[in-house]
Amino acid sequence: MTIIEKIRKPFDAVRSVVRFEPLETDAVARRLARCANVDDLRAVARRRLPRGVFDYIDGGAEDEVTLAGNSQAFRDVTFQPRVLRDVGVVDTTAMLLGTPLPFPLALAPTGFTRIADPAGELAVARAAARAGLPYTLSTMGTQSIEAVRAVSAGRLWFQVYVWRDRGLVADMVARAAAADYEALVITVDTAVLGRRERDVRRGFSLPPKIGLGTLVDGVLHPAWTLDLLRHEPILFANVAGSSARDGTSAVSLSEYVAAQFDPSLSWRDVEWFRSLWSGPIVIKGIQTVEDALIAADLGIEAVALSNHGGRQLDHAPTPFSLIAPVVDAIGDRVEVICDGGVRRGSDIVKAIAAGATACMAGRAYLYALGAAGERGVDRCLTMLHDDVKRTMALIGATNLTSVDRSSISGA
Ligand SMILES: Cc1cc2nc3c(=O)[nH]c(=O)nc-3n(C[C@H](O)[C@H](O)[C@H](O)COP(=O)(O)O)c2cc1C
Repeated sequence: MTIIEKIRKPFDAVRSVVRFEPLETDAVARRLARCANVDDLRAVARRRLPRGVFDYIDGGAEDEVTLAGNSQAFRDVTFQPRVLRDVGVVDTTAMLLGTPLPFPLALAPTGFTRIADPAGELAVARAAARAGLPYTLSTMGTQSIEAVRAVSAGRLWFQVYVWRDRGLVADMVARAAAADYEALVITVDTAVLGRRERDVRRGFSLPPKIGLGTLVDGVLHPAWTLDLLRHEPILFANVAGSSARDGTSAVSLSEYVAAQFDPSLSWRDVEWFRSLWSGPIVIKGIQTVEDALIAADLGIEAVALSNHGGRQLDHAPTPFSLIAPVVDAIGDRVEVICDGGVRRGSDIVKAIAAGATACMAGRAYLYALGAAGERGVDRCLTMLHDDVKRTMALIGATNLTSVDRSSISGA
């Protein structure tokens, strides 16, 4: 062996088992490459966002028992996988409100989304449209009904609260209809606001008040702070455009909004919405079989079983645990959406197995947005879709109609 061969030999040995990856120069791509699931996106968002902002997204009401329970309910279920079933072709498509979608997920409404990323709702709506999924814009959105429609030719839903200022609500509903939103989502679990104690401890409010703690938080997260300073002020865009509030500051708007929650809301208000809106209605925040039955009797198209992601009443039932009893009571009169705790595609498959038509998710895409902006949301939705497909293959299901209660135990 020559001296050169002797030197080369160990290098050749290393080369035979190691491939050197080209250095990734794109910081977002580098960040995303390390995220294998939604929890990883959450961990990155936790690092990148000021703690007050992260806790606003991540936190829940009081002891956060319901927040934790929502995801735990999925973990408590095991699959009953069938094998040798030829899963060469797996079809994840489903129907929701009479229209097909690539897999059974809708993006839940989340208020003040620009706090996670300057593009906020526009970024999420674009990503949802690319994925072919419905995106629900919140009344408390920081991009307007029209601005979101301008960036998305996809399925858009608009979420409303039953506010004291019914004129303003009716106005927003008319704007959503004019902008060709597909469905109205009426959130009914907010007669009063839940007590989110992480926000109480940090003195976090919307919009954030600047105190010493906020300043330190901002300095420790310079990328987020620079983004905030470089962009338009964050406003409740749909309320800011209304005649009553035009030109007001975020602070006075938030006082106005806080005063709007109406504890006198009742089923009569749902009938009022029906008189305003000719398209499908989703009632979000149903937490008992009895209320699901009332919604069914009113001819509502879909109910979202939801405890607001554990942000309202602590010790509320988990959406997953409600699916089977609700579906058994109302049959196929109303579509049933399971909203809360979804972190993996396998959660979606479990919800379908229990009898849901689809799931909704909020934090999953917010973590992704906070971690890596619009590309993060793309990644999150792709991961969830891939999860659904892989899970179906592993339980021996080639389409979602064959996923039923025999596919799981513990529902
Ligand atoms: C930061 C944040 C803001 C939210 N804002 C709204 C809102 O404006 N309107 C609404 O109906 N629900 C709102 N929700 C609740 C979500 O629509 C959804 O019910 C919840 O996120 C589902 O739980 P998940 O986060 O575990 O997916 C919000 C949730 C979060 C995390």
